[in-house]
This record gives sequence, C-alpha cells and structure tokens, in this order.
Amino acid sequence: MIQYLPHQHKNLFASLSLIFCFLLSIHPQINAQTDQELNQKIKTLIAKMTLDEKIGQTALRGRSSRDRGGLSEELKQSVRNGEIGAFLNVMDKEMLTELQRIAVEESPQGIPLIFARDVIHGFKTIFPIPLGIAASWDPEVAKTTARISAVEASGSGIRWTFAPMLDIARDSRWGRVAESPGEDPYLAALLAKAYVAGFQGKDLTDPTNMAACAKHFLAYGAAIGGRDYNTVSMHEPLLRNVYLPPFQAAIESGALTVMTAFNEINGVPASGNEFLLKDVLRDEMAFDGFVVSDWDSVTEMIPHGFAKDEKHAAALAAKVGLDMEMTSRAYEHHLKTLLQEGKITIETIDFLVENILRVKFKLGLFQQAYIPKNQKAKLYHPDHLAAAKKAAIQSMVLLKNNNTLPLKETQTLAIIGPLADAPHDQLGTWTFDGEKEKTITPLKSFKASQATINYAQGLSYSRDTSTAGFAEAIAAAKNSDVILFFGGEEAILSGEAHSRADISLPGKQEALLHELATTGKPIVLVILAGRPISIPRILDKVDAVLMAWHPGTMGGPALEEVLNGKANPGGRLPITWPKSGAQLPLFYNHKNTGRPADSSSFVQLDNIPIGAWQSSLGNDSHYLDLGFTPQFPFGYGLSYTNFSYRNLRLSKKQIGLKEPLTIEATIKNTGNRKATEIVQLYVQDVVGSITRPIRELKAFQAIELAAGEEKTVRFILHPEQLKFVNHRLKEVIESGDFNVWVGPNAAQGLKGAFELK
Ligand code: NOJ
Repeated sequence: MIQYLPHQHKNLFASLSLIFCFLLSIHPQINAQTDQELNQKIKTLIAKMTLDEKIGQTALRGRSSRDRGGLSEELKQSVRNGEIGAFLNVMDKEMLTELQRIAVEESPQGIPLIFARDVIHGFKTIFPIPLGIAASWDPEVAKTTARISAVEASGSGIRWTFAPMLDIARDSRWGRVAESPGEDPYLAALLAKAYVAGFQGKDLTDPTNMAACAKHFLAYGAAIGGRDYNTVSMHEPLLRNVYLPPFQAAIESGALTVMTAFNEINGVPASGNEFLLKDVLRDEMAFDGFVVSDWDSVTEMIPHGFAKDEKHAAALAAKVGLDMEMTSRAYEHHLKTLLQEGKITIETIDFLVENILRVKFKLGLFQQAYIPKNQKAKLYHPDHLAAAKKAAIQSMVLLKNNNTLPLKETQTLAIIGPLADAPHDQLGTWTFDGEKEKTITPLKSFKASQATINYAQGLSYSRDTSTAGFAEAIAAAKNSDVILFFGGEEAILSGEAHSRADISLPGKQEALLHELATTGKPIVLVILAGRPISIPRILDKVDAVLMAWHPGTMGGPALEEVLNGKANPGGRLPITWPKSGAQLPLFYNHKNTGRPADSSSFVQLDNIPIGAWQSSLGNDSHYLDLGFTPQFPFGYGLSYTNFSYRNLRLSKKQIGLKEPLTIEATIKNTGNRKATEIVQLYVQDVVGSITRPIRELKAFQAIELAAGEEKTVRFILHPEQLKFVNHRLKEVIESGDFNVWVGPNAAQGLKGAFELK
C-alpha cells in the first residue's frame, strides 16, 4: 500500500508556494512587483486609518433585495465617516453613484465602496438555474453565462456577485439544490473554475468584471434531511473528498471572496469555525481574498448556541478571520470594546481590513470607482439571448421517449399545464433582476411556430388543486394529436428556505395527467422545476419526459426547438433522480456496505409472502417498498439518437505511481440523427484504508457523432486522480485493484480493471 503526500505536508506546500509567490513578486523581470507593491499600498493605507475606519471596512450594509427607498442622511453620514465598506442590493444607479462619490470624495481615506448583488444565473438575461447549467456538463456554458451576467450587472455598478454557489447537494428535498452544481465533486470543481473565470474575466480591473464569491463554506448542502439551515455532522475525510473540491478549484482559479455557510459543522457554526476559516481556507488553501459572512450568520451564532451574545459572536468571528459581516452589526458594535478589553488584538482587525482592501485594489476600484460613462451594459443583447437559449437547450435532459419526440410537423398540439405560460416561474429562484415581461414562454414560442395549437391551461399554477379547468384541457387534448404538458414547480418552491418533503408534482397535476392519459393521446411531460421531481405514479402514463429545469428568459424558444427536433436535448443529470423524496439522500458515489443491495435477492414489499420467515428476503441494504435504485441515475440523459459502446481498451493491466493509464472505448451513433454524447469515465478503488465509493466520476468527454459515425474516445487517467483523504487525514494514493467503466451514466458502461502497483 503506497501512501504519499501526507495531508499535514499541504501546509508546508502552501508555505513553500507562498514563498515562491513572494520570490516571484520581488523578481523584477518576472513580475512587475505587483504583489509587493500591493501589500505596500495596503500597509500604507492601513497605517493612516483610525480604528473606526478599519471597523467600517468590515461592514457590509444590506438592503432588502426589493428595497427601492431613498438614501437617508444618516446612511450618507456613515459612508462619509468611513463606517461602511460595502453595500448589498443598491440597485438605483444614481444612489449607488452618490454613495460611491461620498466614499471616494468625502470619507477620510477615500476608500471606494464595493457593491454586491446576488447575480446567480443571470442579471437581466436569465439563464437556466445553476443545477440546469450543471446538467449541460459543459464548463463553457457556466463560463459564458457568468461572463454575460458580469457584463450586464456591472453596468449597474455591481462589481461583486454572491456566486458561484458550490454546495454539493445529495438531497433534492433541499430547496437550494436548484442553485447547486449537483452531487459530484469532480463536475462541480470544473464548473467552479469556469464560473470564476466568467465572472472575474482575465483582467480584474476591467469594470465589466465582478468579484466572484465561492459559497457557502462549507458543507451547507449536507443539512440534515434537506431542511435548510440545518445541522451538518460530517467526518473530515468526507468533507475533504466530496464537499471541499469545488471550493478548492474556485480558490485556485482566483476567486476573490468566500462566503461562510449558515450551518454548523460538527457543532461549530461555519462563521466562527477556526478549523474551516483558518486551517483549511487560509493555511492550506492560501486564500488571500476576503471572507464574508452570510446574512446575519455572525449573530445567528447566538441561536446556534455557540455565542452567548452579539459581542461574543463578534469576537468569535473576528478571531477566525471572518473579514466582512453581512447585515448584522456585531463588529460595528463591539470590535472596539473587544480590542480595548484585550479580547482581540489590533493585528486581528488589521488582518480583516488588509484582506478587504486587497480585493478592492485588485478590482481596480481605487482607479475606477464609478461606472465608466461609456460602459453600455447591453442588457438583453441578442448575443446574450442567443447564449441563454443555447444554455437552456444544453441543460435539458430527456428522461423518457417512446418515439414521441421529436414532434412531427403535421401534428396538432394540445398545450396544457401550469408552466406552459408562466413567465415569472420559468425564471426560477434568485432572479431579482429578471423581468417576466422579457421572458419567452413555451406557449408564446409554439404560437410563433408553424404548429397548430389547442391551448388549455388545466391548472392555473403548480399548486392549484381546483379541477375546474380539467374539462377544457381534456377537450383540447381530444382535438389534438399530441399533448404537451408543461408541469413542475413554481419558482417559489425551490431556493433558499424552500425545502419540500414530498418532491412530487404539487397540486392536482398528477390527477390531470391521469385524466389526460384516458384520451389515449400521446403525452409529453415537460418538467420545469428547481429540483428532480418524483414521478413514479405517472411515468408509465406518459410517452416522453423532458426535464427543462427552470430554463430562464429563453426557455420557450429552447423548448420549442428541442421538442420539434431542431435541436437535441443536450443535458445529463448532475444529480441522482429519486423515485421518491423518501429515498433521500441518494447519490451515485455511495459506499458498498457490508451487505450491498442485490436485485437477485430483493423482494418488493407487495410480493412478500404472507407469514414470510424473518430473514427470507435477503438481508441487504434496501427499502422494502422503494428498493434501492433511483428513478434515473446520475449522468443519465437520452438523445434523439442511440449510441452503442464497445471495445474498452486499457493500455496496461498494471501501472506504477507515475504511469498514466490510457483508456479507450469506441462509441457509435446507431440512430439516424447527428447528436452529442457525453462519454463518462468512472473508477472504483476496490479496497482502501477507508472504504471507497462504488464509483467516482473521473473524466468525461462530449463527442459529436453523425448518424452511423463511430469514434474512439481516449481518456488518460493519472494515478494522481486516484488520491483521497483517509481516516488519518492523509492524502493518499493507495496501491491495489481498480475497476473502471466507460459509459453513458453512473449505472451503465463497459467495465475494465487495472492494478496500481
Ligand atoms: C442568504 C443566502 O444564503 C446567500 O446565498 C445570499 O448570497 C445572501 N443571503 C445575500 O442575499
């Protein structure tokens, strides 16, 4: 068994890399002294600041996302006194400019403010929800959408977005799964990198760029039972192997800020968590941007039962290096006294201020504090709308298709369902600036197409329990060749604090679908929702299922093109799709257990003989009623063509620690349409010093194949990709047997094996 790179040594590596960066920074030919100059500027400025001004920099003053009230004299005076470092949700350009003018021209040191906003999946042009973007399995989609978001939002003076959200989510009951990159650390890390590149651009001082904020640090997605804000209990190897990688990737890509999470982890709230904020973030990951709390998360350490009062909360957060406090005012109220009482040191406060100033300098705010006069935000620019349509197409996942899709040109369509013409709801969660008036719904797009349409909503919103519209919907169905049912969830049913225990279609949607099925017309169920929706009761009543997530501004045109076959649905599931919320959490990269579930011995509850003997059912890890498999596995998604996989070839049966392994497979498009397949590589480390997941995604490639075309896909697997953190908190690569699969999802594929010597 080979072990290398003990985890403790990462600190050493971090220190060495810091020294290396320092050497680089002082080498005149390599780097024009930027880091050194920057640190000098920060030190010089801090030396001039009073204690009150320093504390002022740590204040992020929030307005509610809808606040359109004016500026009070009191607020202006606070800025004039240097008592505020940043604002959240100032959306009036004149107001924003005036605040900035006061900060720059009238405050003691003229330090510019930074203006923040939750620009999560678009500013005006709204893209699919992040879980939908993750379903594209295409980092370029994440990058492009982030870039456009920055261009649009920075035109309103927003230079800091609270995105990307990088919480691994294994439980779709959690409302924030909609904002997440899904369940897989590898895919999430690729997306993290792309989002940061898109938001921050190449030149941070370019006023069309925004500082990214990797949030929520850490493990927020593992809240008990999918209940928002709830407790997280997690062993450190899991934290490091699954929840940390996307944050690591964001920080390596230069994310300027990190937001703490609301939850506690193993008894310590994230905003006062020394291990996370000091040991992991600063010491190991060498993060030199600033850490912002979440909304009131500093003072929420009081109800958590971790801080006894506001003052205690301020001390706890400051000591662990939480630099900026969002909305609550514990720092403002208490840092000074804490210093006078010797409970914190001036170095503690200076550290916070240095980090904040570093980001403001890096963003070029000292040179360009205002929205440049010539900057045109190009809101809803045709290029942005085209990118939104493309992203939506790439995000859509075809889950079932009995040859009903694509639609045929001559068919009369019954357009039914609460989400067929719901311009607000198709935007999804976190779209403060999106406008429903600019949203193109599926109904609008189909009306604009050549198709003959019979429209009857049936239900007026997703939770509607009235059957008053059923008769009209059934009549429309009877007069049509195909039923397009646009169902799912309203936007308000996912996102922050919007968890659901039952994740099936709300209201009377299933009842309506059952009635529509009695017409005998083929039904295409299009789901617009912020999470996977459990559909076992209706899956066999419908002929096709397309998951469109909340697809954003251009959801309608994207759906029209996909359903009509002008475009292929491009997405694959970034999260396991359960049969029921009662199966959750459910994820593909689980452990095997000592008694893995087994289809040969499993007896479903309805088939258990009366009076069956206690252990006659196979004592394995499963539910008697729901079994153990999901409805659709991670990575799953159909296409308008079929692909076959054959001839898996591994370059060697055994490899050494430094030897890459070449893995090849031949993929053929066996249908009659050109399409893109996302070929996925999974690995299993069969025996480990701690037990290892049954499969882990290690790589994937999107390949376009013409009808009948065949291509060989080649992956190079480096032993480095097999490392993990074990129970001794050592990062190790362990020798032994590995299984590999190349396939279309986490439950299928060609299987091979190799040994790492
Ligand atoms: C609370 C949310 O958890 C966070 O994601 C968001 O950025 C802040 N509120 C600011 O709106």
